Amino acid sequence: MRVKGQAHDLMQMSKSEFQLPTISRRLESIKRYVLDGPGFYLLRGLPISRWSIEEAATAFWGLGLHLGEPCSQNGKGHVLGHVKNLGLDYQDPATRGYQTNARLPYHTDSSDVVGLLCLKTSKSGGLSSIVSSTTLYNEVLKQRPELLANLMRPFYRTRWGEVPEGKQSWAEIPVFMEHRGRIIAHYVRSAIRKGQLLEGVPVLTTEQEEALDFLDELSSDPALHLDMTFEPGDVQLVCNHSTMHSRTAYEDFEQPEDRRHLLRLWLACANGPALPDWMTQSYEGATQDGRPNGILVPGVPLHAPLAAE
Ligand SMILES: [Fe+2]
Repeated sequence: MRVKGQAHDLMQMSKSEFQLPTISRRLESIKRYVLDGPGFYLLRGLPISRWSIEEAATAFWGLGLHLGEPCSQNGKGHVLGHVKNLGLDYQDPATRGYQTNARLPYHTDSSDVVGLLCLKTSKSGGLSSIVSSTTLYNEVLKQRPELLANLMRPFYRTRWGEVPEGKQSWAEIPVFMEHRGRIIAHYVRSAIRKGQLLEGVPVLTTEQEEALDFLDELSSDPALHLDMTFEPGDVQLVCNHSTMHSRTAYEDFEQPEDRRHLLRLWLACANGPALPDWMTQSYEGATQDGRPNGILVPGVPLHAPLAAE
């Protein structure tokens, strides 16, 4: 992959302007592997040490266009995200985990696929970890089948104040949804917990809490999850419908320019798995291709910032 010069406006860039003749077929099979297979892929070795931030962002964005359509990741309309510790307090109801250095428990992002490009690693910690949500479903079924009914009914989760048109400040969505022969999962425990602070949201029952506790206990089982370290130039792709991800807490280097920094894409993939209406109507809206379209807030234009905001 060769990337030269200053990035032009990424929002205006099309797939045809970023041709990848030698790897486009491989990217297509990687996409199928992520969407319909094991649910994740780690690509190593993007030569980011030779690239400016503009060039790295252009390369990652261009790669993303071959996999799907970038969608908004927050209420600011960011279609290129920056996972970086901004020193915010994770206890604040409006703070998103990616803006902190806290441990992030296993969860799903919104969109078909989340992609991360590692630009800089932390001083210590910050391991990335994934677990198959389909495996979690099967383990609950095997070990505690009485908990499954609760996990397949909707939970109320906050939208972190990032409210799409016509929606409430919370969304109702089950953790596990059976749809056309697959188990589709959506789970952000912190969003369920913070949802409890919103007016109109019913208090979680002890049975619901017990079911979520067991889910978290299962994910923390080393026999079920996979830990990986990121190196600069790594690209991790994860299908949110079948895989949950997590990260350990981390310590940053002193200088702001040396601190852990990942670029993030949320991709809507036109030929992704069939999804229940919970995903594309109740929680998120849908793209023209009927895929989850991230966090669209009225009046907020989409943009691809080159620094964390
Ligand atoms: Fe995430």
